[in-house]
Amino acid sequence: MTTRTIIEPFKIKSVEPIRFTNKEERTELIKKAGYNPFLLHADDVLIDLLTDSGTSAMSSKQWAGIMDGDESYAGSKSFYRFEETVRKITGMKFIIPTHQGRAAEKILFSIVGGKGKYFPNNTHFDTTRANIEFTGAEADDFVVEVGKHSEIRADFKGNMDVILLEKFIKEKGKENIPLCMITVTNNSGGGQPVSMQNVREVKEICVQYGIPLFIDACRFAENAYFIKLREKGYSNKSVLEIAQEMFSYADGVTMSAKKDALVNIGGFLALNDENLAMLCRNLLIVTEGFPTYGGLAGRDLEAVAQGLEEVLDEHYLQYRIRSVEYLGERILSAGVPIIEPPGGHAIYIDAKRFLPNIPPEQFPGQSIVIELYTEGGIRAVEIGSVMFGKYDNKGKLIPPPMELVRLAIPRRVYTQSHIDYVIEVILEVFKNRDKLKGYKITYEAPMLRHFTARFEKLN
Ligand code: F0G
Repeated sequence: MTTRTIIEPFKIKSVEPIRFTNKEERTELIKKAGYNPFLLHADDVLIDLLTDSGTSAMSSKQWAGIMDGDESYAGSKSFYRFEETVRKITGMKFIIPTHQGRAAEKILFSIVGGKGKYFPNNTHFDTTRANIEFTGAEADDFVVEVGKHSEIRADFKGNMDVILLEKFIKEKGKENIPLCMITVTNNSGGGQPVSMQNVREVKEICVQYGIPLFIDACRFAENAYFIKLREKGYSNKSVLEIAQEMFSYADGVTMSAKKDALVNIGGFLALNDENLAMLCRNLLIVTEGFPTYGGLAGRDLEAVAQGLEEVLDEHYLQYRIRSVEYLGERILSAGVPIIEPPGGHAIYIDAKRFLPNIPPEQFPGQSIVIELYTEGGIRAVEIGSVMFGKYDNKGKLIPPPMELVRLAIPRRVYTQSHIDYVIEVILEVFKNRDKLKGYKITYEAPMLRHFTARFEKLN
């Protein structure tokens, strides 16, 4: 059989024009934004790879669902469609809509968190960590060792290190661990998948110690597709069946629908424990809204339900995973260091190896991000010392283990020629990497400084 080009599995019915800028304009615009792409106006960006969250293109059926949404305060038919779809995929008994992922986290951890509590995960996403730490509890990461090395190729670099996990449970005491989490795919670790076997092994440990297992399911369909491609025994199973098996090991799910539900806003908390569900719903009413809309409009619930059906389409997932891989392969073959293999939703450039002469204190990732924008109008995000750097008591930077630049690919938004353009710009920046400069921070907020920090170029 000849292998043909994997095409975008959709036709384009509505378009949004891109506003073009030139390099001189962008040099000024990024300077005015304090060299922080978060502070740019989005219409000054040509290709926006800041995030895959809430940036999906909705389908004609989702837009039809938007018109069809039932806006009843209580008992909306759109809620029941949403509930039925989430239940079909996750098998959970209690489905609680929230306005996005972190709202589900906020509610869950407000109830189970608190001082003296510990929450293990493969790698906590920053909002999950923040919601845990906000309650006084501790968030701990146990990704497998290979997941920390960008240049090592492995099929499931998002896996949890079960030996470390068990050691941790024994050390901290099972009574102090209200739940254990697995994030699929592992966003902060390069969008790398978790294997079914690993989920099973984590579950076994959790059962042994009586600890509930939760899945952060933002990118569950991408993870399930990787299992289909890479794990023995799954190639003939449907992605829905794989997802169902994965969730069958879980006691609860948090989800940002802004990723794999292909919508611009939405999320949910899904649980099996009736008492916990009751406590969560009570808090939901205070913070989000009535349990049948939870911070969303009826039309949003309709779009989420439709998106959750569409994301399981294997033509879609083949195109999705392949288009991210395509970008990764092309730049890698030209020598650009990335986290290997390419992840499900994003390519992560290894800024330490890209710019070995710029030390972490001068933010090599930020330097690449600024150059990608200036050179080609591409917006990416630094995931390194700007985002996660801390200071010691002498004010010296404590850098995180990796200096990365994330190029997150919005779902169904860009075509192959957009990605070809991105590749050309990255290669141009790579060719001129010796000319790149470091930066220093001139303003920073006390928390989550990457959103609002301002920078100055060093000479
Ligand atoms: N968990 C994971 C793994 C995430 O990637 C995100 C969001 C959340 C939870 C929170 O969901 O944004 O709906 O409140 N990630 C986005 C990103 C913001 O750019 O990676 P949310």
